[in-house]
Amino acid sequence: MNLLKMLSASECLLLCLDVLILSASAEGSRIKVVVLERSDAILPCSLSTKENIVQKLFNWRKVDPNKQEVFRYDGGLHYYNGLPGQDEHFSGRVSHFPLELQFGNASIMIKNTVVNDSGVYTCDFPRLQQKQTFSIELVVEPVMRDRSGKIPGAAPKPLVQILKTTKDQARLKCEVRGAFPKPKVEWRDSNGNILPAEEQVSQTGERYDITLFTTVTRTNSNIFLCVATQEEISHVTKHELYVAFCGTCGQVITGWLAGCLIGMLSFALNLAALVATGTISIRCNRGCPGSANKSSEDPPAPDSETGPEELQVLRNGSVVCSPATSHCSWANY
Ligand SMILES: *[C@@H]1O[C@H](CO)[C@@H](O)[C@H](O)[C@H]1NC(C)=O
Ligand SMILES: *[C@@H]1O[C@H](CO)[C@@H](O)[C@H](O)[C@H]1NC(C)=O
Repeated sequence: MNLLKMLSASECLLLCLDVLILSASAEGSRIKVVVLERSDAILPCSLSTKENIVQKLFNWRKVDPNKQEVFRYDGGLHYYNGLPGQDEHFSGRVSHFPLELQFGNASIMIKNTVVNDSGVYTCDFPRLQQKQTFSIELVVEPVMRDRSGKIPGAAPKPLVQILKTTKDQARLKCEVRGAFPKPKVEWRDSNGNILPAEEQVSQTGERYDITLFTTVTRTNSNIFLCVATQEEISHVTKHELYVAFCGTCGQVITGWLAGCLIGMLSFALNLAALVATGTISIRCNRGCPGSANKSSEDPPAPDSETGPEELQVLRNGSVVCSPATSHCSWANY
């Protein structure tokens, strides 16, 4: 190219100055890497000379807000083949790119990031003729997820209960206990729509107990969720509830037992797998008075005065309805 020849001396001077300023600002400004929690982050660090660093030394350290040894490479040795000293926090999570070393690329990858990885890292080459240090800021952004039991104050999974059902309506109760900061608790339908509800709040010390009542009507799925959210700690936890309105199970042609079994058979098989893995429990509640009166040829329901009875779901997938059952519910854990 004859480009340079075509430029006048002053133009060249300007151009060269521009290049100088550009590289200076690139070196002075810190590279910022933003990732979502639990994803992998590549922290870039490359020598502008692109010289081969396979036989060289470089260090990765976290310097702010806390000091930690992240990764060290010394002529082929590193933390995973003999070098000691890596901070436990990063143990097993940091890798480099061996094939990139020949191009002066000392970038690393931190796997499965946590919010706590956020901070300022340095990458330095202490033994190069021109000692070089690069500064990289990592920001790991939290995502809303279930942190029950992981963070103090995170709301535990809500407790849900069907207080009453009729042919078309059900009264539901949701309880969240001992949470702080104060959680937002909502009843929602399976499309995520927030349902009108009445809330009771009580506070003990810094902890909140919240009880939420709602009255729901039949939907296509008859699935409702109680959701507790604490934005401040990116925590959300929910409890899903299937409501079998009176009539779904109880109001049947051949009596409650067949009705219940037929009603449940379609989903029993699907549920069986989940039940077997312990993720879903099934409860059968006491019968609806309305449907019980309906079929006089029903076998007498023994002990129908007792409270909710457990529906047994056997590990092989069969479902047993207790005699007093005429409507059923299950809850997803
Ligand atoms: C260094 O290697 C990483 C990982 O392969 C890559 O993402 C990055 O672009 C490379 N940097 C340069 C300057 O080539
Ligand atoms: C974050 O990391 C620091 C330093 O390793 C540690 O002391 C602290 O407990 C960590 N915090 C969380 C929430 O993991």
